[in-house]
Amino acid sequence: MIFNLGSINIDHIYNVPHFPAPGETLLSDSYSKGLGGKGANQSIAIARAGGQVVHIGAIGGDALWTREILAEAGADIAGIAVLKSATGHAIINVDAKGENNIVLYDGANVLVSEGQISAALASAKAGDWFLLQNEVNNGPFAAKLARAKGLKVAYVAAPFEVGKVKNMMPFVDLLSVNEGEAAMVCEALGVSEDEIPVEKLLITRGSAGITYRDGASRYTQAAFEVEPVDTTGAGDTFMGYFMAQLDAGKAPQEALRMAAAAAALKVTKKGTAGAIPLLEDVAGFIRSSPPKSS
Ligand code: RIB
Repeated sequence: MIFNLGSINIDHIYNVPHFPAPGETLLSDSYSKGLGGKGANQSIAIARAGGQVVHIGAIGGDALWTREILAEAGADIAGIAVLKSATGHAIINVDAKGENNIVLYDGANVLVSEGQISAALASAKAGDWFLLQNEVNNGPFAAKLARAKGLKVAYVAAPFEVGKVKNMMPFVDLLSVNEGEAAMVCEALGVSEDEIPVEKLLITRGSAGITYRDGASRYTQAAFEVEPVDTTGAGDTFMGYFMAQLDAGKAPQEALRMAAAAAALKVTKKGTAGAIPLLEDVAGFIRSSPPKSS
């Protein structure tokens, strides 16, 4: 079981010919609205990968549909509070190359109470996973509590803030960062990448793929080559699939391969939560297009 303390956003997605320059008013080519938030995307990915996930988070009464989409995907939504606040939202521009930039409004995402987290973790058992990122409040409280209950803590340090990472480090079993962020963590802690003090370290390295350190073991996974349409949520898709595989007891290399394939498939589709692929499609994709190397 994976307990995911995660953001839930209304994503407003604009396809644009290029990113607007300062002072420019730009007409978008198309617009769509849907469920997003790094946390919600990860929960959807876990559920679509066949994993069991309890989502912990908060929304306002203005977007109850976000909770329904999570439930329809198979996530347990009992840990989602409906508060007197606006639901978080994201303004996402996606350019012609499929790259994005994102502006967030946190809203209810940062009003998750300690009591809500404690109640949601009441049914957690030792050996379960606790997953979180930086779009919600009370992360260190929750991670400390999860650790005390014998859960393993996976932390995606996004959106990245080195101070937040330093605060979380004592409670983290698995840290996920990109290469540039890893360098900032090293600088802040005065350690080399190998010495970052976590048992499991996942680093995304752009075109060089992904590396994963688990204790003394080292793994690499090449990216699957696809024609990018929209990279938004690819990292969330990767993490959700990866966690679902780890929680199911799969070997790290197999988990990495499945997660990389799921992220690649996501990149071929526009959107965030709604574009996260189903397990059968990921399996079919792996059969039809093996990565160059791993
Ligand atoms: O990682 C993509 C997500 O980041 C979007 O869904 C957006 O809501 C922001 O949280």
